[in-house]
Amino acid sequence: MQSSHKGLLKTAPISYNKTTGSKDPEESEGRKTMDALTAILTRRSTRKFTDRPVEDEVLQKILEAGRYAPSGGNNQTTHLIVIRDLKVLRALAVSVREEFAKMEVTLGMYKSMANSITRAKGGSYIFHYDAPVLILTANKKDYGNNIADCSCVLENMMIAANALDLGTCWINQLKWLNENEVILEKMIGFGMAEDERVWGGLAVGYPDSEDGLPYRVMAERKGNRVTFVG
Ligand SMILES: Cc1cc2nc3c(=O)[nH]c(=O)nc-3n(C[C@H](O)[C@H](O)[C@H](O)COP(=O)(O)O)c2cc1C
Repeated sequence: MQSSHKGLLKTAPISYNKTTGSKDPEESEGRKTMDALTAILTRRSTRKFTDRPVEDEVLQKILEAGRYAPSGGNNQTTHLIVIRDLKVLRALAVSVREEFAKMEVTLGMYKSMANSITRAKGGSYIFHYDAPVLILTANKKDYGNNIADCSCVLENMMIAANALDLGTCWINQLKWLNENEVILEKMIGFGMAEDERVWGGLAVGYPDSEDGLPYRVMAERKGNRVTFVG
């Protein structure tokens, strides 16, 4: 499985006009992309996907956007693990369900985690919404910016995917299970290093919507307040 994905990480150089920042015309051929601010403001989570596979060249662009994210000290130690073999994905979903089902909901537990446990015990829980692609972001276990760096990678990929008409949803379950023995062994089997842990994930695919496009709306902000000083 790993070898079939290797080609995805060979990044073909893209040339940009240094003044306008625009890409070579051939690069964007066949797919119009939106401007950066629109892609950011209209990105919403997708939790229903079609089984249409994500084309290699599209996936490549999303991964590249992730790999170009900033990182603390320019460390670039985020490791992107791309799973798109449906059998592997479904087997992973079964393991995740089984491991959550062994856990108990405790008082004050993070609501989403409690929800995962309850649904896993119910028996029909699919943590990645059956998306055709799951991208995991791993990073060094003992690196202070591990979550921050992975988050930058994930956010870049979510915005890029929206610009390319794909839907995404942040998937945190494998972070919560990142010290679980069964899941850890699976991750190492996928190529994660012993000193790395998963800090986040992303379900990626074509949205199962009426028009086939992501649900794009500038949802009103209720929080994230801004204080100007001066
Ligand atoms: C750190 C983080 C963890 C998240 N974990 C999950 C998750 O495990 N499952 C899920 O369905 N959504 C998850 N989300 C998505 C949020 O629920 C979603 O971004 C939020 O409700 C706002 O909706 P929007 O993305 O459509 O704007 C996560 C988002 C963040 C930033």
